[in-house]
Amino acid sequence: MPPSKSLQVKLADDHANGANAADATAFCVFTDEPRLPVAAHLDEAARRTIEDLLRAGEFKGEADDALVIHTTDAATPDAARRVLLVGLGSHEDFTRDALRRAAGVAVRRAREARVKHLRFMLPDVACGDAPELACAAAEGAHLGFYENDFYQQREAGDESTLEHFTIVAAAPDDALRDSLERARVVAEAANWARALADEPGASLPPREFARRAAEMAAEFGLAVETLDASEIRACGMGGLWGVGQGSDEPPALIVLRYEPEGASDEDELWAFVGKGITFDTGGISIKPAQKMEEMKSDMAGGAAALGALRACAELKLKRRVVVVVPTAENMPSGRALKPGDVVRTLAGYTIEVVDTDAEGRLVLVDGIAYARSLGAARIVDLATLTGSIIVALGDHRTGLFSNDDEWAARVETAAARAGEPAWRMPVSDDYKKKIESPIADFKNYGGRPDATAAALLLSKFAADTPWVHLDIAATSWHEEAQPHVPAGATGTGVRTLVELVRG
Ligand code: BES
Ligand code: MN
Ligand code: ZN
Repeated sequence: MPPSKSLQVKLADDHANGANAADATAFCVFTDEPRLPVAAHLDEAARRTIEDLLRAGEFKGEADDALVIHTTDAATPDAARRVLLVGLGSHEDFTRDALRRAAGVAVRRAREARVKHLRFMLPDVACGDAPELACAAAEGAHLGFYENDFYQQREAGDESTLEHFTIVAAAPDDALRDSLERARVVAEAANWARALADEPGASLPPREFARRAAEMAAEFGLAVETLDASEIRACGMGGLWGVGQGSDEPPALIVLRYEPEGASDEDELWAFVGKGITFDTGGISIKPAQKMEEMKSDMAGGAAALGALRACAELKLKRRVVVVVPTAENMPSGRALKPGDVVRTLAGYTIEVVDTDAEGRLVLVDGIAYARSLGAARIVDLATLTGSIIVALGDHRTGLFSNDDEWAARVETAAARAGEPAWRMPVSDDYKKKIESPIADFKNYGGRPDATAAALLLSKFAADTPWVHLDIAATSWHEEAQPHVPAGATGTGVRTLVELVRG
């Protein structure tokens, strides 16, 4: 499905031409003083209306709150005719993430109010430099603009939706303009990844996933070397082949490369490996029906890795990166893997398939081994891997596992900066009983705790290559709509990886 068109985000100072073209202006409101840190830009009548409203406690400024008001003074220029108040919480809790969220809330509330051009007053706060704040606001606006309604008919008149978002800053300069451009690139890449993860299983089987990746690669000047099913089998990727064998849709290994201008073979190559299960029924160890539809997004890790590469290329970042996405559909059938089967992986190790629903690790070990064979010096894998990480961390933090403290710290820092926080979990042979098999080198499931066992299995395939595994099972998907984003895919991982490559 074609993704919805993107939001035009621009920068202006208060007196810039075009201010009158906006049909609403958004102001951020704090719960504590100064409540309205840009009040100076407001005309008298509007200011009085808002201050009365705040005094009366009708708008508290709590995070995620939003209120549209109409100011009545006939002399008020168009730009201020409608005012959108957006809550930011307290000054003490203010972060770039709070602003990113507020911009998303503003966009969604403005669209509901049929605003076409929204001006957003950048709050005048002491912490955080202006380019960083503008970047967060722009990211929030692009991310909030995303809709996954591609299968819904538009009602007549619905076209008149939000098109422009102008960030009003005290002193717009080139640094601010650059950060707005970076925000656009990163957020559009995240939205691209979200659109893939929101796509139903039927419209995104492995072949179509590979085609969409190749189409993107062509647009952004990336090299593609995708392996088809027979090549996967011939080169010995028994994990990926095994998971795909029950489906009528053949598996694929999507490989995209970004080589920055002037890069040489001596430069360190990084690999991002993403789980690409386009639908996970569980296979013969079939899942219960409840929530199974969410398993259409079991390729969110793969989509995020690809999205990050797209952004790296568009931003011309100076790092050689290869993305490897083992993609398959996990189905039960007369040809499917059976519990007790043994697969031989690319790395040479055999794995006993105790549970066919623990398929992510089977495809990832081949993806990781392939990345190492390409000469990757560092690896990050992203995967909607375990229900267990949802229980452990909920949907606020991604589970981070690693065999290298320094690399783990770099990824953790990048995740925090990107507003996609991760929490380090152990990788340790204390859990090795969970992956030991009496008949093969390893087994794919050994009971709880599973997130740590899955990570331990992956670590055996990463071997001595610095590696981080991000279990995004909880953070890649919102069951319910949030004030700043719709229900569905979140695109988590894209911003983290781009931040990591930026250094
Ligand atoms: N794709 C799932 C993990 C998952 C669950 C992601 C819920 C997002 C939401 C994975 O392939 C899986 O099925 N994991 C099982 C493994 C178990 C049966 C060994 C799990 O975690 O329950
Ligand atoms: Mn599964
Ligand atoms: Zn899965």
